[in-house]
Amino acid sequence: MSEIRTGRQKYYNIFAHFYDFFIKIHSGHHGDETRKFLVRSAQIDNANQAKILDICCGTGSVILSFAEKYSDVLAIGYDFSGGMLHRAKQKDVAHKIILTQGDAANLPYIDDCFDVVCCSHALYELRGQVRTNALMEMKRVVKADGKVLIMEHEVPKNPIVKMMFYMRMLMMGSSDSREFLKQDLTPYKKIFSQVNLSHTPSGKSKLVTCRKSSPHIDGK
Ligand SMILES: C[S@@+](CC[C@H](N)C(=O)[O-])C[C@H]1O[C@@H](n2cnc3c(N)ncnc32)[C@H](O)[C@@H]1O
Repeated sequence: MSEIRTGRQKYYNIFAHFYDFFIKIHSGHHGDETRKFLVRSAQIDNANQAKILDICCGTGSVILSFAEKYSDVLAIGYDFSGGMLHRAKQKDVAHKIILTQGDAANLPYIDDCFDVVCCSHALYELRGQVRTNALMEMKRVVKADGKVLIMEHEVPKNPIVKMMFYMRMLMMGSSDSREFLKQDLTPYKKIFSQVNLSHTPSGKSKLVTCRKSSPHIDGK
């Protein structure tokens, strides 16, 4: 892992101490609704065998929501910050999830092995090539008929929350993140053959659903 990314790991290790509190202020009661929307959108039919991977899982809220809704899934949370994973482990009192530390740009999983790969409110925080590599890796590890679900923020409307939001991006030195959030679906369409956009009921987040092969186009 590059030195820059190691520096960012340190940033996230510190952020982990108040991350859930920050999210509560940022999303209010919509946080829970947003996670439920993401889990519902996965449309898991056969929870018995489903394998779910949450990239950049942070303190584990999303992957825990999957594991709580579907008791028999294999639910893996993946993040490069030990601090974030430590918090996730503390929240997983019933030991429902597996937590693994590593870089989103280099996943330690074989091709075509997950039914659902998700990444919630994190892709925009990755830098240019790391973000592209992470998307390529998600495509590689998801099954041909599986789904990649990317949840991203809409830019907040409340001026105070908007200021906090941009301040964080500034701290991370990323004008690239701002640009990415403003973009349309082009970065996804460059990688996936099927891309659909939906919005959470609160309008605070958007969900991009990607498939690596389209049954109609590829004949699968
Ligand atoms: C804003 S948090 C999102 C956490 C969580 N997905 C959520 O919705 O609450 C971004 C997360 O991405 C992780 N992250 C950033 N860059 C990463 C990378 N290159 N590889 C793995 N994880 C990374 C950070 O450690 C952090 O936990």
